[in-house]
Amino acid sequence: MAVLDSELFAENPERDPRFGVRDIWSEMANFSPKDPEATGEFLHRQMNEEINGLEISARNLTDFPGAEWDLRMAIARQCWDEARHIEMFRRCFEKRGIRVGQYPVMNFQYRILTRIDSLIGRLTVQNRSFEAAGIDAIQEAILESSAKAGETDLAELFDGQLADEVQHVRYANVWVDRMKRREGSRALLDLARAVSAANRALRIVAGESITAHPIAEDLRREAGFTDEEIEAARALLPTR
Ligand SMILES: [Fe+2]
Ligand SMILES: [Fe+2]
Repeated sequence: MAVLDSELFAENPERDPRFGVRDIWSEMANFSPKDPEATGEFLHRQMNEEINGLEISARNLTDFPGAEWDLRMAIARQCWDEARHIEMFRRCFEKRGIRVGQYPVMNFQYRILTRIDSLIGRLTVQNRSFEAAGIDAIQEAILESSAKAGETDLAELFDGQLADEVQHVRYANVWVDRMKRREGSRALLDLARAVSAANRALRIVAGESITAHPIAEDLRREAGFTDEEIEAARALLPTR
């Protein structure tokens, strides 16, 4: 097992003994996309990512009790959405004969996020970065799964999930903007520190295997990104 730098990574969240928890991407199952087990492993891994989403949002409520009520309500709604997503993914893989714990899982999102000590930093890294990238990935997955016979349950799952994830990115965009205007340079500094730490941590977890999906431009606009931000995200994609 890899030992991760405690400056960049907090402790793992609790998992019951059914789960085999790994630290970095190369320790995961890593099936090739054509492998018959690939879809099941993806759904199982994604369920655990949604658990991470719920756990991070819940920690945002307990770690920042002084945040504005409206922001806390938006975070609480996110907890509810992520809880539904967990069950949706579980239903889809159990239908395919896979059981909870069948494949290893990784809690890098929780470990990176709960090491960040500002709410503006967490909303920027989780919602505006990880979840915005998630929107691009879901958009691509919808197109792929709706083209495949027998996977209409997945097309429905992604469709329902997408609307929620757009909302998670959107409320973060609104509140990050407000915090920047209200707190000025302190907010900017917190934000920059969080992004830089998360980038370093992500490189340790993923190595060379960070996958980028085409930018879902309309959805990102709907989620409150400006044209410049969408362009900047596109510029970061590896050239294919
Ligand atoms: Fe989710
Ligand atoms: Fe989400």
